[in-house]
Amino acid sequence: MGFTSKIKTIEWTDNISRMIDQTILPHEFKTVDIKTCEEMFNAIKNMIVRGAPAIGIAGAHGISLAALELAKITSNKDEFIQLLKNKAEYLKSARPTAVNLMWAIDKQIEIAESTNSNIQTIVELIVKNGKKMELEDIEINKKLGDYGAEIIPKSATILTHCNAGALATVGYGTALGVIRSAYAKDHSIKVFADETRPRQQGARLTTFELTADGIDTTLITDGMCSYFMKKGMIDVVVVGADRIAANGDTANKIGTYTVAIAAKYHNVPFYIAAPLSTIDTNIKSGDEIIIEERDHNEVTTINGERVCADNVNIINPGFDVTPNELISGIITEAGILKPPYNVSIKNAFSTK
Ligand code: MRU
Repeated sequence: MGFTSKIKTIEWTDNISRMIDQTILPHEFKTVDIKTCEEMFNAIKNMIVRGAPAIGIAGAHGISLAALELAKITSNKDEFIQLLKNKAEYLKSARPTAVNLMWAIDKQIEIAESTNSNIQTIVELIVKNGKKMELEDIEINKKLGDYGAEIIPKSATILTHCNAGALATVGYGTALGVIRSAYAKDHSIKVFADETRPRQQGARLTTFELTADGIDTTLITDGMCSYFMKKGMIDVVVVGADRIAANGDTANKIGTYTVAIAAKYHNVPFYIAAPLSTIDTNIKSGDEIIIEERDHNEVTTINGERVCADNVNIINPGFDVTPNELISGIITEAGILKPPYNVSIKNAFSTK
C-alpha cells in the first residue's frame, strides 16, 4: 500500500533519530534529524512526533542519544547510570498521558542497570535495543491489525477519531492498522474521520494517510458523529489509545469519550486498538491517568488567528477517559480482549 509501506514515522539511522515533522503535514512532507536528548525532548513536547507508540519509540531513541552523549563525559559507570536515569526522568516529563513513553524509556534503563559490563557495551546494547523496539512496533501493529480486521463487517463504514495511524506509530498504525488490514481483504470499506479539534490530527493526518492508500475517506467535524450514527451510516468505531488502565478504562484524544457515549446510545460497536505496551497494569482505573493540559492557543486560535473574545476562560485537556463499560473490545497483538477487562488484561499479560 502507498504511504506506509515506504516511509517510517521515526527511524534510527547512523546514530541519529530521523522523524517525519508532523506539525507541517499535510502541506509539507519533511523529515527532521534529532541528534541530542534535548532535541528529542522538544520534538516530543512540541509534537513533531506524536501518537502513543511513536512517542514511545522516540523515548527509546532519546535514551540512545543520551547514552551516546554521556559516554563522552564520564568514564565512571555508576555516574553514567545515574546521569542516564536523570535523562530518563527528563524525557518522560515531555508528555504525561501516553504510557508508551514511560514503558519504552524504562525498557532502556533496565538494560543499563542489568548489564554487567563497561559503558561502551551498555551504550551499544541500548542503541541496539532502541532499533529493535522500532522494528517490533510495525510487526505488532500488523498483528493487531489482522486480529481487528475480523470484527469489521463486509462493506462497513468505520468511524475513527484523532490519528492512530502509521504517523502515530513507526508504521502501519493501530486503529488505522485495523482499517488497513480490513481494506486489504475488502476494498469496499469506508472511513469517516473526525477532524479532532483542537489540533486536527484527524483532518491533517488521518485523511492524509488513508487517501494516500486509496481508502474511501470522509472528513466530518467532531460534533457530527451522533448525527451519522442516528442515520445508520456508521457500522463500527475503532480508535487508538494513549493509556489503558487494568480495568480497561481508556485514555485517548479528547472527544473519544463523546464518540463512545454516542456509539453506546446508537448500538454501534466501539473498539480500542492498541499494543499491550499501552496498557498500564500499575493503575487500577482511569481515575489515575494524568491528563495533559495543553497550550490554550490551540483553542483560541485557528491558523494563527484568534477566534474568540479576549477575556474568555480557556481549558484544554488533551485527552479524556472512556469508561470500560462503553468499550466492546480492546484489539491487541495478543488478540481481542473482551470484558471483564480486569480478567482478560491479566490473562493477556500472563501469557505474554
Ligand atoms: O496528542 P496526540 O496527537 O499525541 O494524541 C494521539 C492520540 O490520542 C491517538 O489517538 C493515540 O495516541 C493512539 S495512537 C496509535
